[in-house]
Amino acid sequence: MLSDPTGSWTPVALSVDLPPGTVVPARTPAGPIALWRSASGRPSASADRCPHRGMRLSHGFVRGETLSCIYHGWSYGAAGNCLRIPAHPGLSPPETIRVATHPVEEAGGVIWVGVGEPATQPPQLAGLVPLRSLQAQAGMAALEAAAGAKADENGLLETTQNSQEIRLLLAFQERDETLIHVLLDGDSSLLERIAVSRAVEALRRKAEAIEAEGSSR
Ligand code: FES
Repeated sequence: MLSDPTGSWTPVALSVDLPPGTVVPARTPAGPIALWRSASGRPSASADRCPHRGMRLSHGFVRGETLSCIYHGWSYGAAGNCLRIPAHPGLSPPETIRVATHPVEEAGGVIWVGVGEPATQPPQLAGLVPLRSLQAQAGMAALEAAAGAKADENGLLETTQNSQEIRLLLAFQERDETLIHVLLDGDSSLLERIAVSRAVEALRRKAEAIEAEGSSR
């Protein structure tokens, strides 16, 4: 993880895991977010806290092009402005009622969320496609130790495990928790996909053992 993540991008989820009309919880190094996709397919990232009474917006629901809070139904647009307060249907909510938002870019099947205002676009993963995501109960350092390789500033880690080349995108979740996106060459066969998937699961077990051993000392 970068010591100062301001201006960086985090690969928070795979496109396939955020269908239109859904919201999920996700994390950047700056904290929890509600990651949602409108009915028309536009991805957005909002702070995971409703400005009204603090309910998590990731518990809410998407209707059309808005994200609504599950508690009292206040609705927010992609820009974070409150558009509707059901208890006051005739009221135009003041501009001051807003939820913080983050920049979002979607490329090559990965959804990236920016911390602050990144000066560049997220990295291109030329020729690579995402296979799946999995959570590891292990921090970045334990995963790097298990892989015998370092992740770059975008979280891309390349290693060979049991003769199997694997490429991962790592996203910080908590000090001892990491989200792993598995990447593959676009023309990989089914057998190669299965082999990579198994190799990554073995790497995760190894990293989790390293993490557990470190925390028991
Ligand atoms: S807490 Fe979100 S609408 Fe009330």
